[in-house]
Amino acid sequence: MTLLRLVLFLLISIPVYSYAATGEGSVEQGQVTSGTCQGCHGPDGNSFSPDWPNLASQNANYLSKQIHDFQSGARKDPTMSSMVTGLEEGDIADIAAYFAAQQVKGDPASQSSLGKKLYLGGNRYTHVPACAGCHGPNGAGNGPGAIPHLAGQKSAYTTKALKDFKSGARSNDRNQIMRDIASKMTEQEIDAVASFLAGLGAK
Ligand code: HEC
Ligand code: HEC
Repeated sequence: MTLLRLVLFLLISIPVYSYAATGEGSVEQGQVTSGTCQGCHGPDGNSFSPDWPNLASQNANYLSKQIHDFQSGARKDPTMSSMVTGLEEGDIADIAAYFAAQQVKGDPASQSSLGKKLYLGGNRYTHVPACAGCHGPNGAGNGPGAIPHLAGQKSAYTTKALKDFKSGARSNDRNQIMRDIASKMTEQEIDAVASFLAGLGAK
């Protein structure tokens, strides 16, 4: 078993992030409760600005974890922290269910061969692992492991997320997984993989 497979196995087998107590959310109720969120993230979870992440197609476990992390302060963002203060457990489950049920659009024109190479194969000289090992060859992530869906995400947002992990400004990744990986990536690699992901799966 390679180290990566072992890490992946551990991630998927420990159900820490399945907020079982919250229960399954209601897509119908989530559409109503997420009214304010839709102002930025879009009525169908495809956002209006390159800096606002798409939430469509994202798995509910990951969405729920991020909302909880914004609430606890484990993940900091001046805009988002104030958005989530009033949300209760049931609201979070409903909102997560709603956005998870939407379809991300992506940007078919956004491509990068360097980004594709890095995503699928990593960089063995600098020990950057293949992103596909955890996020999946199609960038669909992994729901039970709360590993995010990355395909079709806004490239400016993905770039910011990776830079935030690299600098440590974002530190809500369990076992520093993404901080360790992003710290080994060059700015060129970050831009390239973000461009590749924005176009991945887009039609
Ligand atoms: C004024 C615009 C705005 C509104 C309204 C807004 N958001 Fe956000 N949201 C953002 C921005 C900007 C980020 C990216 C923060 C960062 O860079 O870390 C974000 C990030 C997120 C993320 C993390 C996505 C990821 O891929 O990690 C989630 C989940 C989220 N928002 C949910 C919500 C919910 C739920 C609401 C409504 C209660 C909401 N947002 C309202 C702007 C907004
Ligand atoms: C060992 C598993 C693993 C590998 C390999 C991995 N990731 Fe991640 N990644 C994660 C996990 C888990 C998270 C969620 C962190 C959290 O809870 O906030 C994440 C989060 C992210 C995010 C934030 C998404 C968002 O919506 O905010 C981006 C972007 C990302 N990874 C890109 C990459 C790229 C690019 C690579 C390859 C260079 C990579 N990851 C390799 C496990 C991994």
